[in-house]
Amino acid sequence: MIPQESKNWVLVEKLSLTQLEEGKIIETFVGQKAVCLLRKSNSVFAFAAICPHQGAKMCEGWIDAKGQVVCALHHYKFAPESGRNTSGEGYKLRTYPVDVRGTEIYLAINS
Ligand code: FES
Repeated sequence: MIPQESKNWVLVEKLSLTQLEEGKIIETFVGQKAVCLLRKSNSVFAFAAICPHQGAKMCEGWIDAKGQVVCALHHYKFAPESGRNTSGEGYKLRTYPVDVRGTEIYLAINS
């Protein structure tokens, strides 16, 4: 039997689903940790607040026409679902599992 992965779900206290605007990156805190949230196509994605390249704030970036997160500083692109660096520079944006319960948003920030 394969053990089920246990996640430590933490409520995003400062934001609810209704406050997330489609296609807009929002920075918030979960405890002491800054994270970015993105509502896209009726899903919510969470990823690191800081770019893995040179530390720009990801909330200052945008979503392009293909739904990729674009860093504002050097325009590297990342898939919000996986953190994959879709523009090919070899970086990985840290992502966090998201669970939406009603209008509450929970993140598994330790997994
Ligand atoms: S700091 Fe984000 S692409 Fe360079």
